[in-house]
Amino acid sequence: MAGRKKCVIMGTGSYLPEKVLTNFDLEKMVDTSDEWIVARSGIRERRLAADGQITSDLGVPAVRVALEDAGVAAEEIDMLIMTTITPDMIFPSTSCVVQSKLGLPNAACCDLNAACTGCIYSIEMGRHLIEGGNYKRVLVVGAEKLSAITDWEDRATCVLFGDGAGAMVLGPADDDKGIVDIYLGANGEWGDLLFMPAGGTLNPASHETVDGRMHYMKMLGREVFKHAVIEMARSVEIVLERNGLTIDDIDCLIPHQANIRIIKALAKKIRIPVEKVFVNLETRGNMSAAALFVALDEANKSGFVKKGDRVILVGFGAGLTWGAGLIDW
Ligand code: UT7
Repeated sequence: MAGRKKCVIMGTGSYLPEKVLTNFDLEKMVDTSDEWIVARSGIRERRLAADGQITSDLGVPAVRVALEDAGVAAEEIDMLIMTTITPDMIFPSTSCVVQSKLGLPNAACCDLNAACTGCIYSIEMGRHLIEGGNYKRVLVVGAEKLSAITDWEDRATCVLFGDGAGAMVLGPADDDKGIVDIYLGANGEWGDLLFMPAGGTLNPASHETVDGRMHYMKMLGREVFKHAVIEMARSVEIVLERNGLTIDDIDCLIPHQANIRIIKALAKKIRIPVEKVFVNLETRGNMSAAALFVALDEANKSGFVKKGDRVILVGFGAGLTWGAGLIDW
């Protein structure tokens, strides 16, 4: 790393669609209750995109806020990495659609799929582009219209997810603040715990796939839960250990927002006080790749994360994938 500049998060942004779907609304749609959803997940309401409002439409306003927060002009962006499991289309990439809607004339564009861990994966890719020196301003964006792939007849999944988007601008640091280290992991053996069976080459769209409700998310929640706690705790411990830190050195933990019970189990396992843990899932639900971006933006703008804080981001998702990042804010 001699002579190389660290990568810093120059600005953050997020966008949530207006429509609110409460647990009480869900009670009218499937056999569930507000009591069950709050007790088992911690979620009370989530946002839903409007009809015709697609994933790129969610990403665009989040990017505008992030650019303004960073004080960076659209022309300065030389790479856009978009992370989503609900792209506008299979191809072209949603990053290219966002580019055309925003006007980012000098940006190369690609999509990255690491499901809910997409935020940490895309920051890791972006920061190496910055540290390598060839890229000066990298935009990373997470946007999801999960309502489009949610089976509204499956009570085990439909109560958990929401729509939204977040973004950040990465650039070279002026001082020693910035992204210190990121650890990433995956195990494809656990792919069948959380997946969407149809729409790809395995099961191209057909009458049978539509009739079989195969274009919706399927999840074995209890299994995902177990792996989530173990792998997120391990990710945090790896990042701490290889930087010579203990959990007491950490001011703020921003975990993936999937389930309050997962977050509490993680906090207990790594022994971090809950007051240091950022949580917004009560009103957001699980927004997959967008969740950590939105959480980071809200933690940043609300003052939960302050300049000089040592922050850990940690997440997990379909793949299964997982990871943790250490940031000197
Ligand atoms: O970003 C990664 C995405 N995935 C996750 O993070 C999900 C991880 N998993 C979880 O969050 C939890 O496993 C869930 C919230 C999905 C479920 O909680 P759980 O405590 O693991 O419940 P369970 O799946 O074991 O279900 C318990 C009971 C079952 O009934 P029986 O078999 O005990 O009679 C379910 O049929 O709750 C029933 N159930 C419901 N009841 C009312 C499942 N969904 C609902 C519902 N309303 N919405």
